[in-house]
Amino acid sequence: MGLGVRAAPFTYVAHALAVVAAAMVLYWCIHFRGGLAFEAANKNLIFNVHPVLMLIGFIILGSEAIMVYKVLPTVNHDTTKLIHLILHAIALVLGAVGIYCAFKNHNETGIANLYSLHSWLGIGTISLYGIQWIFGFLAFFFPKAAPNVRKSALPWHALLGIFVYILALATAELGFLEKLTFLQSSGIDKYGPESFLVNFTALVVVLFGASVVVAAVAPARLEEPQGYAPIPEN
Ligand code: HEM
Ligand code: HEM
Repeated sequence: MGLGVRAAPFTYVAHALAVVAAAMVLYWCIHFRGGLAFEAANKNLIFNVHPVLMLIGFIILGSEAIMVYKVLPTVNHDTTKLIHLILHAIALVLGAVGIYCAFKNHNETGIANLYSLHSWLGIGTISLYGIQWIFGFLAFFFPKAAPNVRKSALPWHALLGIFVYILALATAELGFLEKLTFLQSSGIDKYGPESFLVNFTALVVVLFGASVVVAAVAPARLEEPQGYAPIPEN
C-alpha cells in the first residue's frame, strides 16, 4: 500500500501508548480492584489477572512482535524473524494463562462459562492466533516452504495476522465494556474516576492498535518498492 509515510514515527507512538495503556490497566486492577492473585479467598483478585495479562501479555507483546521488522529495520532478517516468532509465542502463552484465570474465577465462584460474545470472540481469537503461529512457523521457519510458496504465502500471512490482531483489539474492547457495565450495574459511579479510567484505557488501546496497524502496513523506508500499484485510468 503506497501510503507515502514511513513506519518509524508510528512505532514511536505505539511504544508510548503501550506504556500508557499498561500503566492504566495495572493502576485499575491494583488500585481500584484490589490487586492480582492466582490463589486467593477473594476470587475477584484471580479475575483481575485476566485483563492485565490479556492487555500486557497478549496484545502489547503481540504488537511488539508485529512491529519488530519496522522497529529494527537494519537488523539481520533471520534475527528479526526469530524475535517475531518468540514474542508471538510468549504472547500466546500469556494470553492462554490470562484466559485460564477468567475460567478459574468463574469456576471457583459458580459463574457460568462462555455465555458472552466477548468470551466467544476471545476463544476464536486465541485459536486463530495459535493457528497463525503454527502456519507461520512451518512456512517461514521450520521446515520452511519452497521459496515460491513462501513468496506467495507472505502477503496472506501479513493480512491474516493483521486481521487476527484487530480481532484481539475488538475482543479486549468488549471485555472492558462488559466489566465496566457489571461494575456500574453493581453501584460504581457512572461518571466517577474508575469509570473514566476504564473507558480511557479502552480508548488508548484503540489508538495504540491503530498505530500498530499503520506501522505494519507502512514501509520501513520510503524508497522501498511499494506492493500496491494505483489502478490505471482508462
Ligand atoms: C484479547 C483479549 C481478551 C481475550 C482473548 C479474552 C477472552 C476471554 C474469555 C475466553 C473469557 C471466558 C471465560 C469463561 O467463560 O469462563 C473471558 C471472560 C471475561 N473477560 Fe476477557 N478476554 C480478553 C480481554 C479482556 C479485557 C481487556 C477485559 C477487561 C476487563 C476482559 C473482561 C472479561 C470479563 C468481564 C469476563 C467474564 C464475563 C464473560 O465471560 O464474558 N477481557 N475473556
Ligand atoms: C500469531 C502469530 C503471528 C502473527 C499474528 C503474525 C503477524 C505478522 C504480520 C502482521 C506481519 C507483517 C509485518 C510487516 O509487514 O511489517 C508478519 C510478517 C512476517 N511474519 Fe509473522 N506473524 C505470526 C507468526 C509468525 C511466525 C511463527 C513466523 C515464523 C518465522 C512468522 C514469520 C513472518 C515473516 C517471515 C514475516 C515477513 C517479514 C518481512 O516483511 O520481511 N510469523 N507477521
